[in-house]
Amino acid sequence: MADNATKSMDDIMALCKRRGFIFQASEIYGGINGFWDYGPLGAQLKKNLRDAWWTDVVMLGAGGQMGPDGKPVEIVPLDSCIIQNPKVWEASGHVGGFNDPMVTDKSTPDGRRFRADHLQGIYRYSDPLKRTTDTIDTAGGEPTLKMHSEVAIPNATVIASGPDEAVSLLESDKSLQKIVGIKSIGKTGYSEGYQFGVLVMADFGKGPEKALITTTNLALRFYPDLVPSPFTGKIGGLSEPRAFNLMNHTFTGAVFNEDNKVYLRPETAQGIFINFKNVVDSTRVALPFGIAQTGKAFRNEVTPRNFTFRSREFEQMEIEFFCHPDDSKAWYVFWRDWRMAWWQGIGLEGENLILREHDEGELAHYAKEGAGTSDIEYKFPFTAPGYGELEGIADRTDFDLKQHQEHSKKKMEYHDKTRGELAKNGQPKGEWYLPHVIEPSAGLDRGVLAILCEAYTPDPDRASGVYMKFHPRISPIKAAVFPLVKKDGMPEIAEPLFAELRKRFGHLGTIEYDEKQSIGKRYARMDEAGCPFCFTIDSETLTDQTVTVRDRDTLEQSRLAIDQVGDFLAGKLGV
Ligand code: GAP
Repeated sequence: MADNATKSMDDIMALCKRRGFIFQASEIYGGINGFWDYGPLGAQLKKNLRDAWWTDVVMLGAGGQMGPDGKPVEIVPLDSCIIQNPKVWEASGHVGGFNDPMVTDKSTPDGRRFRADHLQGIYRYSDPLKRTTDTIDTAGGEPTLKMHSEVAIPNATVIASGPDEAVSLLESDKSLQKIVGIKSIGKTGYSEGYQFGVLVMADFGKGPEKALITTTNLALRFYPDLVPSPFTGKIGGLSEPRAFNLMNHTFTGAVFNEDNKVYLRPETAQGIFINFKNVVDSTRVALPFGIAQTGKAFRNEVTPRNFTFRSREFEQMEIEFFCHPDDSKAWYVFWRDWRMAWWQGIGLEGENLILREHDEGELAHYAKEGAGTSDIEYKFPFTAPGYGELEGIADRTDFDLKQHQEHSKKKMEYHDKTRGELAKNGQPKGEWYLPHVIEPSAGLDRGVLAILCEAYTPDPDRASGVYMKFHPRISPIKAAVFPLVKKDGMPEIAEPLFAELRKRFGHLGTIEYDEKQSIGKRYARMDEAGCPFCFTIDSETLTDQTVTVRDRDTLEQSRLAIDQVGDFLAGKLGV
């Protein structure tokens, strides 16, 4: 596995365009920031990942394993609308609270903007001290932030490292508290929504000064008078952060006014919560069970960036798993561990993938202290040596059902016939309660991006210089059939083999047939497309009915009887 830190995002993006994985949306009109189209290979790759999730989550019920209650895991699917009654988003908290802190640089002529939380947390303790800061790429019109480029902080010395040391230092130094904007500390050092990392003496242009350096880029306090503008490098031009709502809106009906304003969903999850009762009443599911769906979500991200990583239109794969409050911890652990194993099982193995439990300071609005929240994170080339979120697993407690119950005035409680005191007949009387919810929420586009980055394998010894080492299950092309030359009866043998393989495996991905150009060029094209096996009909085939099998990863070429090709491929694809 090549180290992702050494892979170039520009090279990966170039391959994606060259081979038809991902294109800039509206490219012929100059593009549109935050939107991406998937080409033929990308669309199939994305479908394969979505299908793998759907099969394993919904059809097999968490891969067919037993839940913590020792029973098969029950999951049912749903396909809810992108547009719902706007009250859904009032109840969920998105209208009031789904905001990013946006900062404007007043010193730039066009008042350029960026997200405060993308600049805070920019400093990381290292030796010598460097800030891993977002830099601004202004090449494509609207500026985009590039994550984690490293810049040395001049004259910086560490005076406290880690939260504990930082807290004790703050406790003993009132002037420091003022500098970092803390009114009270102690355990509440985290309570303002950020974490302490290191405290440093740093020179931001006004001579050495003390500054709070954070280790996370989540929900941090922003210091306009400490932070240099990412556009001009100067201190003093930045505004205080302003809440910027991430929801896109449109109108339904003939009149475009406030009364007809509706939102494009920013997550698929709420469609599940509002249908919880419908599903319970219309199916035979009983708690614990989950509802799963995939679909588009829209967020008006302040700074879309890093290829598809932060887009304004993207797809999610979400499970809301409903259980009794007493069982939520066990189910949280179950889902967290299985989701991690799932990503590993489709090819994101090794140190590029980590599971990170959230610290207290990172709790989302729906999470409660002590309830689990973790992220499965991937080391993308643009985050390396850091990681970027792929999927979040959160114990959402009864937050969402309670909100919808209050706002809709419809009872969301579940009648659990297996619980409660025993009646005279020895049967439980039943118990009414609001279920708790464990939510594994994955980004499909981020999954595809991680898979593309993982698969990208430079190899100077190949004609293509690079190959895409996709897991066979996810690979968009499953196999290619080539006649060595377009004569001597070879196409006449290759075409029926192609037809046979397509009939048998075409529902899993593409089977390629190609008789143009030299065989070397065809192999090189398949390497870049990530096709795991090529079958070539050559002169030996004419005499002994065997074909050449070329293995993408080992480059080994072996011979196989033509009538064995289908079974060979089935074995390799695990079907
Ligand atoms: N229902 C919970 C929820 O939506 P989230 O962490 O905001 O949680 C879940 O989103 C996943 O969706 C993320 O882990 C990420 O993979 C993906 N995601 C979120 N915002 C995204 C964006 N702007 N572009 C691409 N993927 C995104």
